[in-house]
Amino acid sequence: MYLHGTSNINARGHLEIGGCDTVDLAERFGTPLYIVDEALVRSKCRAFMDSFRESGLTYQVAYASKAFCTMAMCRLVEEEGLYLDVVSDGELQTALRAGFPAERIHFHGNNKTPEEIEMGIDAGISSFVVDNFNELHLLQAIASEKKKVVKIVFRISPGVEAHTHDYISTGQEDSKFGFDLASGAALRAVKEALDLTHLKILGIHSHIGSQIFETGGFKMAADKLIDFALKVREETGVIFKVVNLGGGFGIRYVEGDTPLKISEYVQAITQGIAETFGVAGYPQPEIWIEPGRSIIGDAGTTLYTIGSTKDIPGIRKYVSVNGGMTDNIRPALYQAKYEAMLANRGNEANEETVSIAGRCCESGDMLIWDIDLPKPQAGDILAVSTTGAYNYSMANNYNRVRRPAVVFVKDGVADVVVRRESYDDVIGNDVIPARMRKLEASIRA
Ligand code: LLP
Repeated sequence: MYLHGTSNINARGHLEIGGCDTVDLAERFGTPLYIVDEALVRSKCRAFMDSFRESGLTYQVAYASKAFCTMAMCRLVEEEGLYLDVVSDGELQTALRAGFPAERIHFHGNNKTPEEIEMGIDAGISSFVVDNFNELHLLQAIASEKKKVVKIVFRISPGVEAHTHDYISTGQEDSKFGFDLASGAALRAVKEALDLTHLKILGIHSHIGSQIFETGGFKMAADKLIDFALKVREETGVIFKVVNLGGGFGIRYVEGDTPLKISEYVQAITQGIAETFGVAGYPQPEIWIEPGRSIIGDAGTTLYTIGSTKDIPGIRKYVSVNGGMTDNIRPALYQAKYEAMLANRGNEANEETVSIAGRCCESGDMLIWDIDLPKPQAGDILAVSTTGAYNYSMANNYNRVRRPAVVFVKDGVADVVVRRESYDDVIGNDVIPARMRKLEASIRA
């Protein structure tokens, strides 16, 4: 298993992260357990901020909270000086309750409800990324009722196909997100917005996809955006002050993944925009981005306890853990690949090839196919690396499994930032209708 950030094998032969022995963490907090290497998250935030600062351009880095949204994470991101991207009332409330300044939040989403728009306006967030005509008019209606002027950025689907999994590719023309260029919808949106009294146009946005290893797609998006910006200027006189290129910077999950350094992604984007817009004689816009995975992904590790094993001679050995698609749905959803190790036997040589099965009632609940490990025994602690992004945030209660706790580790200190769910958390909202209470009474009797 590749050791990210502060991860290492300590003198006891155990996996250690943030100066904490993970076997001790498993004992203290139970498993499954999400661990976040806080120093690594902070170093990623700083890498983005430093690279932009060096570019000398005006910029904004917003953390895409969908990747991992908890109050402690919002606080960390705030301390590092980033902005925050939310896509729902739940993410917005998490940020506000964590004390994240509203004026550093922007709101995404392809179907924001009137309630969410109101919540955003009332909180005083920085801007809305408008996705469609319905939202444009809804925003105008709510803003004018509240006598507020709302800043907007248009989400454009630029017709650029990112080389990534179809489900996480978003920039292509056939997408549910944004105003498309080819049909003229994007231009029409700007023209309509100009007639709307309570909206102030800031700029344009495009997010081409996720887990992208090359910079070509961002450059192509920049080319499309400048063509659009020029057309808008010619037809309406509007000059965009902001160009947001979204997130999507890839990370290393397994051998063969070849992400660029954060500084290289930022350089490619800043140079791409500066050149493209410069050559066209367009005023240099502020460059905004909103990375999620590349900030939190590497920093996450999930600990499981190994339980039963099923050996089918000549076919496969299944090794089951006490979690699975409820805490990491990515293998089932995107055929995502992960690396792992036995956290309590870090110095032992690999002896056999096994497949790691989740505990859910679903054949597709497999975490890792064909991984080499020292012969796993019941009670061993399996650590799966690179689980920081879209694991906790997509966790679910299938089979009424309780969601694990999340622990931040740093300099030998471990703090729970999300408590493990209780049975009440899972069952507490259930209601037995009155007409079934007779049964309940008889059960009690
Ligand atoms: N901005 C927008 C508009 C987005 O839609 C996304 C991700 C991001 C930024 C952040 O992208 P990142 O830097 O994290 O790649 N659940 C999937 C990923 C879905 C991505 C959704 N949008 C997964 O587990 O891979």
